[in-house]
Amino acid sequence: MKPQLILLGAPGTGKGTQAKKIVEKLGYQHISTGDLLRSEIAKDSELGQKVKGIIDRGDLVNDQVVLELLNANCDLESTTYIFDGFPRNIEQAELLESTVLKGKSSKAIYFDIDLDILVERISNRRIAPKSGEIYNLLSRPPRVDGKCDISGEDLIHRKDDNAETVRNRLEVFKNTIAPILGYYEGRGELVTIDASKSAEDVFGLVEKTVNN
Ligand code: AP5
Ligand code: MG
Repeated sequence: MKPQLILLGAPGTGKGTQAKKIVEKLGYQHISTGDLLRSEIAKDSELGQKVKGIIDRGDLVNDQVVLELLNANCDLESTTYIFDGFPRNIEQAELLESTVLKGKSSKAIYFDIDLDILVERISNRRIAPKSGEIYNLLSRPPRVDGKCDISGEDLIHRKDDNAETVRNRLEVFKNTIAPILGYYEGRGELVTIDASKSAEDVFGLVEKTVNN
């Protein structure tokens, strides 16, 4: 059985981009806590209303709230997952192991990059909310300006991708990542990948990690 994959990395490092490739080429299912939370906001659910302000500021949503959402959307008995955006702190890393993975074989892939590159990546990101495609005006522009290549829908700029929120998201990341890396390193499950390469080259490294 392939290992469950945990994608770790700062905002904009390419977790969502790589997850899409892993799903298409390696037969995984993708579960992104950010996508799940954004979909609650789009539905205007009670949970969505509760978390909207937190996400707009770039702060972390309460651990238990995110854990419940994660648990409600995954079934590890029959599927191998890519966990994207969870864990975000050491408490979530421990909860993921004790309440979700429960000893299942897993690998944590850390997308390592100079954080200064990320503001440019994020400010040029455009997403297609329905198809889930992720574009970049510099590295992966859509064929038709402002439209998704696959669905034809209008592309949007995520609300938390403005300069002020991105600065806070990067701060939150810097303040929380070291213990998470220490945790997976201690378990012998950590693989670090240079995320500054092209998306194709990064995927080549991911594929090697999964098959190794
Ligand atoms: P989340 O949705 O998880 O956002 P994030 O971690 O900030 O990561 P991003 O989605 O911004 O970046 P990415 O790494 O997926 O990059 P992408 O592939 O799009 O979380 C959002 C918010 O939700 C959080 O701030 C928090 O409030 C809340 N939240 C979520 N999970 C939570 C949790 N567990 N606990 C508490 N709160 C939680 O790529 C970025 C851009 O770069 C794109 O334009 C792409 O085309 C381009 N690109 C990708 N790879 C390359 C490459 N190799 N070269 C050049 N360009 C590239
Ligand atoms: Mg993402």
